[in-house]
Amino acid sequence: MVVAVYPGSFDPATYGHLDVIKRASDAFDRIVVGVLHNSAKSPLFSVEERVKILEKATQGIHNIIVKPFEGLSVNFARENGAQVIVRGLRAVTDFEYELQMAQTNRVLAPDIDTVFMTTSLEYAYLSSTIMKEVARFGGDLSRFAPPEITSEVRRKLSMLSESEK
Ligand code: PNS
Repeated sequence: MVVAVYPGSFDPATYGHLDVIKRASDAFDRIVVGVLHNSAKSPLFSVEERVKILEKATQGIHNIIVKPFEGLSVNFARENGAQVIVRGLRAVTDFEYELQMAQTNRVLAPDIDTVFMTTSLEYAYLSSTIMKEVARFGGDLSRFAPPEITSEVRRKLSMLSESEK
């Protein structure tokens, strides 16, 4: 039984993340999606909201569970009995950071491997940051995430003042 964790910020998840989750759920026996609670960052959604959003968006996938986590991804992997960390690679611009992170994780935990999934081409340009930027200016989000996520983005932004956006 191969368990993989997929750690990330997911603020919020996009079609790109959901594509990696779906493909990873086919490739591994169990996927534990780890939503990072990073007190140094100020995300649009709280960690609890990001977990809820992802749970809703992945309802149809039987072998996945979504959990919040703090601290190192390798510790999260160990706590969940995972042998693999999954990350998505969109473009060469992701590569340097991802390689550095994978190599650091390898030093910290030689028993855990990082597996990269190349993001499907139609989502290669996409990020949570880009989606939020378009949302702030009222653009169409339908190509970026499913309705259950885009509605949450719109709802959240409508609750914030201009300076908080
Ligand atoms: O979605 P993101 O923001 O690209 O995800 C980055 C994430 C959460 C995978 C990365 O920041 C992370 O693993 N953070 C936890 C701390 C850690 O383990 N860092 C890696 C060793 S440098």
